[in-house]
Amino acid sequence: MSSTEKRGGFGGKLAAILAAAGSAIGLGNIWRFPYITSENGGGAFILIYLGCILLLGLPLLIAEFAVGHNTKRNPIDAFSTIRKGWGWLGAMGIFSVTLIMGYYFVISGWTLNYAISSATNAITGDYGAFFCDFTTAVWKPLLFTYLFILANHFIIIGGVQGGIEKASKVMMPLLFVILIVLAIYSLWLPEGREALGNVFTPDFSKVTGKTFLDAMGQAFFTLSVGMGAMLIYGSYFKDGTKIAGTAISVVSLDTIVALTAAVIIFSAGVADQSGMQLAFVAMPKVFSSMPLGNLWATLFFLLLGLAALSSTISMHEAVTSYFVEKRGMSRGVGAAIVTVVAMLLATGASLSLGAWDSYRVAGMNFFSLLDNFTAIVMLPVLGILTSIFVGWVWKKEDMRKELTAEGGVDAATYPVIRFLLRYVCPVLVSVVFVCGIVAFIRGL
Ligand code: PHE
Repeated sequence: MSSTEKRGGFGGKLAAILAAAGSAIGLGNIWRFPYITSENGGGAFILIYLGCILLLGLPLLIAEFAVGHNTKRNPIDAFSTIRKGWGWLGAMGIFSVTLIMGYYFVISGWTLNYAISSATNAITGDYGAFFCDFTTAVWKPLLFTYLFILANHFIIIGGVQGGIEKASKVMMPLLFVILIVLAIYSLWLPEGREALGNVFTPDFSKVTGKTFLDAMGQAFFTLSVGMGAMLIYGSYFKDGTKIAGTAISVVSLDTIVALTAAVIIFSAGVADQSGMQLAFVAMPKVFSSMPLGNLWATLFFLLLGLAALSSTISMHEAVTSYFVEKRGMSRGVGAAIVTVVAMLLATGASLSLGAWDSYRVAGMNFFSLLDNFTAIVMLPVLGILTSIFVGWVWKKEDMRKELTAEGGVDAATYPVIRFLLRYVCPVLVSVVFVCGIVAFIRGL
């Protein structure tokens, strides 16, 4: 039996949308988007961000789904099936997503501790000190991180339909319900509405070159593009799943969640707190002064945890599929290798915030190194290469067939997507990438 015959797949269109939206909607939307927005001039940043999503993110997501769906293979074989000698592009994605797992799992583990601590009223006193004590400790953050990775492991060994699809069908509706409840509550508070107005009003004076860089990086990260995660999900789409339509649904859901998360956080009046501090220090503080504060805080961290879990399973699956299909391992063994590697990297990342903080490269501890290297170097490079592959390397006719299959993309829209992939993505992303590297080196 060939390896493609025994492949798993999603049961239907809804499952495909929920799983891919699960990958997209993550810490990037709820934790990162709000603070980058407030740092970069609020409404002005959102406009630029939406431009990046439409012109760069959406076409790249369509491209990645198409490569996966067309070949029904893991990221490495998918590229080399379409054009011999291009498997390295898939390998680069797998490498990058492995590095992302290294720090992403650590933050995911924190959400678990914060959800439990909020429910049991264990976060008291100085919220900044609580965060600092917890994240720089040795065992406690590691324990939660390992638990989170194990949750991933069990979902992944359940298979595509029995694990990923089932989990997405439970997690995503729950995530939407929590999000809506929190959003209604925050808009109900009068001071919330006022704070909101202030943040969403565009402040163009804060727009600089870096704003574009941040907007593009955020657009790529939030849509999980270039890393093989969306490619592998695309490869599990059932025949008849419309590639572009699914991508549009995923992008819409992802954008709605990011904007709603910003509403929730801005209305709490804490938008000027940046970085990790925003979700883990400022938010618990705000909740503590509200009636039923523990309930809101627990819901908020549950929301973050669910978003993180549905994203990390797509990262895990992208790498597991490599071991299963390319190395011929059983799903259990392949997943176990990924789980162990993720634990090792996450151990380094977690300890680098405390005990191992003195080991630094270019001034960065291991945690920031993983974050910055993937965000500043790998994401744009993979974006450029993927658009070049689909726009220039993939045979024109084959790509057209894939995108327009079963009435997918109509004759008028297809040339637009092709044009964006051939010219707009490679050129714009290259410009932003080079400027980003220069700015980063200057800032060192
Ligand atoms: N899109 C996820 C988020 O916004 C992160 C992610 C990146 C998921 C790469 C999979 C692959 O948090």
